[in-house]
Amino acid sequence: MSRLKGTTRKLLVSFFLSAVITSSNALSLHAAKLNRRNALAAGGSLLVSGAMPHSVSAKQQSIASRLDADILTMPPSSRANELNGIDNTYYPQWLAGTWDVTQTLKNTNTPLGLKFIGGPNGSLKIAQESFEEQQKQLNIPVHLQLRFVNTKFGVAEDRLFNTRQRLDNFAGRSVVSSVEYANVGGSNRSSVLALGGSENDPLQTTFVRYKGPAAQKTFLLSHGEEKIDSTSFAAYESLRSIFALTNQNTAPPVTTDSENIWYFELVNEDTIKARLRIASYLNAQSDSLYFEAKNKAVAFADYVLTMKKCI
Ligand SMILES: *[C@@H]1O[C@H](CO)[C@@H](O)[C@H](O)[C@H]1NC(C)=O
Ligand SMILES: *[C@@H]1O[C@H](CO)[C@@H](O)[C@H](O)[C@H]1NC(C)=O
Repeated sequence: MSRLKGTTRKLLVSFFLSAVITSSNALSLHAAKLNRRNALAAGGSLLVSGAMPHSVSAKQQSIASRLDADILTMPPSSRANELNGIDNTYYPQWLAGTWDVTQTLKNTNTPLGLKFIGGPNGSLKIAQESFEEQQKQLNIPVHLQLRFVNTKFGVAEDRLFNTRQRLDNFAGRSVVSSVEYANVGGSNRSSVLALGGSENDPLQTTFVRYKGPAAQKTFLLSHGEEKIDSTSFAAYESLRSIFALTNQNTAPPVTTDSENIWYFELVNEDTIKARLRIASYLNAQSDSLYFEAKNKAVAFADYVLTMKKCI
């Protein structure tokens, strides 16, 4: 059985920390330190799923309303679009371009109670520390760039560019060595090319190598899009990140599940105001409180973003 040795454990934690603080939330940081194991038990109530791209109108407000909901249930995995191999989250045309972004954490919450962010054993002490750690980030703007690109299939997030921007800027230093796309059944290069797409079109899955012996693979578990009107758009992506050491160490990978919920509003052609909620969920096999949480989010981090188009 692999147990993390002190130094390696610190290393993993430190790489993981920068990643978590970045793309998601410091609340799950301590839980993550304790070697969460990969376990998907998606289920529960579905609001809007990428599996039903054409059934949006009946559920018009449901993604946007997730930004303000007191309780959220993890969306189930979407599989229906995997047949074409070009599945992705596609955005409105007005998001295409490169943007100077200010992203600010405005609110954090533990909707089921503090103990649910207390790691595998639901430790209140760990929970308290995690919560205080994240409170320190409140109202501190982080500057980064985000890019959305035109493809034959729609406007997609440039995940290579955006992932690096998020990880480096939230860490406050350069931590990323490389970011690549990885092929999965639902989204892969050969399908994109076969259907007339390009070598550079974004795929769903990313593989990050850190400046150190650690790597992170992030899978899109499900997504949904909601056009509200000509200048407002909501979307969600549920994501699974697996962090692992890339040296000889046999420590088991660290897995976290989260959901990003977006609301974009075009103010004028060069300005977008956006909101982002990052919701964290527990894993079945690692968290003793998993069943008590009933697939509900245990932490919210709510951000506001101002996006100015780069020339
Ligand atoms: C790419 O996607 C197609 C369609 O889903 C699938 O048949 C194929 O196996 C995928 N290829 C890879 C390398 O995942
Ligand atoms: C959780 O509880 C188990 C059993 O009491 C204990 O062996 C383990 O060390 C605890 N883990 C943490 C991180 O506190």
